[in-house]
Amino acid sequence: AFNLRNRHFLKELDFTPQEFRFLVDLAAQLKAAKYAGTEQPRLRGRNIALIFEKTSTRTRCAFEVAAHDQGASTTYLDPSGSQIGHKESIKDTARVLGRMFDGIEYRGHGQEVVEELAAHAGVPVWNGLTDEWHPTQMLADVLTVTEHTAKPLTEVALAYLGDARSNMGNSLLVTGALLGMDIRIVAPSALWPDEDVQKAAQDLAESTGARITLTEEVAEGVADADFLYTDVWVSMGEPKEVWTERIELLRPYQVSMDTVRATGNPAVKFLHCLPAFHDLGTEVGRQMYEATGMSELECTDELFESAHSIVFDQAENRLHTIKAVLVATLGS
Ligand code: CP
Ligand code: NVA
Repeated sequence: AFNLRNRHFLKELDFTPQEFRFLVDLAAQLKAAKYAGTEQPRLRGRNIALIFEKTSTRTRCAFEVAAHDQGASTTYLDPSGSQIGHKESIKDTARVLGRMFDGIEYRGHGQEVVEELAAHAGVPVWNGLTDEWHPTQMLADVLTVTEHTAKPLTEVALAYLGDARSNMGNSLLVTGALLGMDIRIVAPSALWPDEDVQKAAQDLAESTGARITLTEEVAEGVADADFLYTDVWVSMGEPKEVWTERIELLRPYQVSMDTVRATGNPAVKFLHCLPAFHDLGTEVGRQMYEATGMSELECTDELFESAHSIVFDQAENRLHTIKAVLVATLGS
């Protein structure tokens, strides 16, 4: 099998397709064991640090519950409750935490920060989301896709609509390429992933047989898709000022029942990494409505609540897949 012990988990490009699939398979096994009540704790006595410089519900909770299920303890560090980023460099923080903890999760801004942490910690470092990549999300998404299709991944078509010049756009494009999928980015070209990410995906596709499409045309991009995927139109850390322009650019890419019909596939499934703007149920949603008159942004409430939507299966799978990363890199 694959030995990922003591490896970092920083971005998808660091893994072979076989290693990535190994983690997804391990997650499926851990999920089955948890459901059956036969889970074996492989992280007893381990201590895990969770650094969050941005907010989180799923990622934080998944790390905490996964660690607990496996017998490990966690310490949560938020930006205001530690010296990180104010009084102490990442390099020094890495060397301190590496003396106390067996592994470190980091969610923050630039990818270079999590890479710097990994370079100096001396223990495995896991990327819980940066501006550039969201690799633990990709494991959950691939597990969810495999649970909701009878096809091998190499025959699955997944169309991502919305802001693709983002962690989710980058990660989905590269992961689709890595796993040999039919992966489509459907967005205005100003919001496609950077050239270097496109190039990395194209290079991978040559060896994996992935089909890569970047298009501004919704009808072309979603035709015969098995999965539709979207994410927020403005990511954490982006300034308020981009909202107006972003909404104008992305309005035609809202995912709705019309998009479902445009696939021509009545069994198409809908994915979203969450959190999602699909109603007025949140403070940010209400602010958005006041500013824009729109109560639904990247997806409609009708689709979100429909039988096409598998977003909560996807959210649950964050737990099982993050657990797989912990067990594979740190487990006994
Ligand atoms: N999808 C995801 O990463 O959610 P959180 O921001 O709640 O962790
Ligand atoms: N693109 C989003 C993903 C949240 C899980 C963000 O970075 O805010």
